[in-house]
Amino acid sequence: MDWGMKNRMSRLIKSDDERAVWLAIDHGYFLGPLSKLEEPAKTIKPLAPYADALMLTRGILRNCVDAGLDLPMILRVSGGNSIVGPALSNESIQTSVEEAIRLNASAVAFSIYVGTEHEHQTLIALGNLVNEAQRYGIPVLAVTAVGKELEKRDARYLGLCCRIASELGAQIVKTYYCEDFGKVVKSCPVPLVVAGGPKLKTGMDVLGLAHAAVNEGAAGVDMGRNIWQSDNAVGMIRAIRKIVHENASVKEASKLL
Ligand code: R5P
Repeated sequence: MDWGMKNRMSRLIKSDDERAVWLAIDHGYFLGPLSKLEEPAKTIKPLAPYADALMLTRGILRNCVDAGLDLPMILRVSGGNSIVGPALSNESIQTSVEEAIRLNASAVAFSIYVGTEHEHQTLIALGNLVNEAQRYGIPVLAVTAVGKELEKRDARYLGLCCRIASELGAQIVKTYYCEDFGKVVKSCPVPLVVAGGPKLKTGMDVLGLAHAAVNEGAAGVDMGRNIWQSDNAVGMIRAIRKIVHENASVKEASKLL
C-alpha cells in the first residue's frame, strides 16, 4: 500500500485498536430531509467530537461542516436516485475523484446493488472508482445497499455482496449486521463496518447491535439514524464509542444513555 493510502486508512481506522466509530449523515442524497437531519449542521455539531469520521455528501460538507473541523471525511460520490423514483438501485457516480481531492476527503463511498436490475452498472462503476481513487491513494468504501428490501439482510446475501465488493477492490466495506455475521466477516478480506439501518425499538437494541458486530469481527460502525434520531444522540454515540473502542459491555455502555 502506498503511503497516501496507508495514511488515509490510518486516519479512518486508528492503528491502536483497529476500530472505528463513523457518523453517517449522507442519507439526504436519496431520502431528502428526514427526521432529525432536517438541519444537518445542528445534527452534526454536538456529535462530531465523538466521531472518528463523518460520512456525507459534498453538499452537506461544503454547507454544513466547519472547514476547521479536524476529522476525516468519507465522501459519498454516488447518487442519481430517490426514495420516490422508479428504482432505488439506479445509482451511479455523481461526484468526481478530483472533487474528492479538492474537498480533502479521506475516502470515497459508493453503493452497490447486488441482485437488482442495476447490479452490473453499480459493480462496474465500483471497479472504475477503485481504479481512479487508487491512482491518488484514496480508499473506497463500498456500501452493500439493500434498497427498500430490508429483509435481504441475511448472511448469505450480505456475505455475497461484501465478498464481491472486496474482490472488485474496495478497501473497506459497509454492510448490515445479521445473524451469523461472523461468517460475513470471515469471507471478506477487508475491514467491515456496520450500518444501523432504520431506528431500532430501544437504545439497548442499538448497543446490542454494535456490541455483537464488533465482537463478531467488525472494525466498527458507520451509523446514522440510530444515533441522531435517538432522544439522547450524544449519549448514544458516546455509549457506542465505549463499546467499540473500550470493549465495554452493553450494560456498562448503557449508563451513558
Ligand atoms: C444509506 O442511506 C447510507 O449509506 C447510510 O449512511 C447508511 O445506511 C448508514 O446509516 P444508518 O445507520 O442510518 O443505516
